[in-house]
Amino acid sequence: MTLRLASAGESHGPALVAILTGLPAGLVLERDAIDADLKRRQEGYGRSPRQQIEQDRVEVLAGLRHGRTLGTPLALVVRNRDHENWTWGMSPWPPEGEPKGKGAKPVTLPRPGHADLAGVQKFGHEDVRNALERASARHTAVHVAAGAVAKALLGTIGIEVRSATVDEAALRAAIDEARKDRDTVGGIVEVRATGVPPGLGSYAAKEDRLDARLAAAVMGIQAVKGVEIGDGFALAALRGSQAHDEIEVDGRRETNRAGGIEAGMSNGEEIVVRAAMKPLPTLMRPLRSVDLATGEAATALVERSDVAAVEALAVVAEAAVAWELAVAAQEKFGGDAIGDFVAAHRAYCERI
Ligand SMILES: Cc1cc2nc3c(=O)[nH]c(=O)nc-3n(C[C@H](O)[C@H](O)[C@H](O)COP(=O)(O)O)c2cc1C
Repeated sequence: MTLRLASAGESHGPALVAILTGLPAGLVLERDAIDADLKRRQEGYGRSPRQQIEQDRVEVLAGLRHGRTLGTPLALVVRNRDHENWTWGMSPWPPEGEPKGKGAKPVTLPRPGHADLAGVQKFGHEDVRNALERASARHTAVHVAAGAVAKALLGTIGIEVRSATVDEAALRAAIDEARKDRDTVGGIVEVRATGVPPGLGSYAAKEDRLDARLAAAVMGIQAVKGVEIGDGFALAALRGSQAHDEIEVDGRRETNRAGGIEAGMSNGEEIVVRAAMKPLPTLMRPLRSVDLATGEAATALVERSDVAAVEALAVVAEAAVAWELAVAAQEKFGGDAIGDFVAAHRAYCERI
């Protein structure tokens, strides 16, 4: 069975939900491990006070009994505590009474760099909020919960996924400076996966390639504008003799410029994925825009926002990479029961 993930949820709606299908039965999940990743996503340096309102916790509505998956769809929920300030503005049904609370007034000032302008044009909305609520990265919370489930699956075959920001000290200094100037910054994150056996993904077709799948998953995260595997862009400046990782007699490599992937397949080395995040588009000193209600020149919407979310992105990218590796591992080793999955992995490792 193919592992699949669907999610729904607006930034200030009642909750974020994810449905995961194709997980083997009998996988042990720990609520604390999932909640710990949700907490890591919220904690990054430079984030807005929204993170103090939200204390994300996972709820499981289906697919789990006594801490073990049932092999049926797993339904995860992360509630938006902030929704209580938006009950009129984000009511799923026509709200009763006078407009009140947040989101009651339509947004007509699109922010450069956000979903606002193309979003209302594409979907025919009049209130920019109808576009920005889903475009917001808030729903990455439930993807992080799904990533924690993926990490539990990968853990049964010894795969571990971790992440970090690149140059933490410089990033924090840049965030402090930007906050003073009421501006925003981006940065670079790195995700590493160890214990990945050779042969996840394939060269057979472009959609099978593990590098393409990881790149799409990471580029699918809000504000990511560049992804590289291993030495990525730097390889373009090298000669072949300097760029490739020589093969030892035991099949291992002394270097890992390829970032653990060759020809769309894992090669048994550590998988290394980097992502570049642009500066966040909501600015406290807004850029030029247009008021969609009047057609007049205006400045963009100012709404509570992060100065940077690079540390949060690391956790979200870690979840995305974990999810894709879990999909590739489940594709390779299969199994309706977790024991079948683990046994298939063991047999494969013995063969190679
Ligand atoms: C974890 C995370 C948190 C974010 N927080 C904010 C934020 O507070 N304010 C903001 O303007 N953009 C934020 N963004 C970025 C926007 O969601 C993103 O720039 C926007 O949806 C437009 O999409 P694009 O940048 O991929 O083109 C965040 C992104 C991530 C990954």
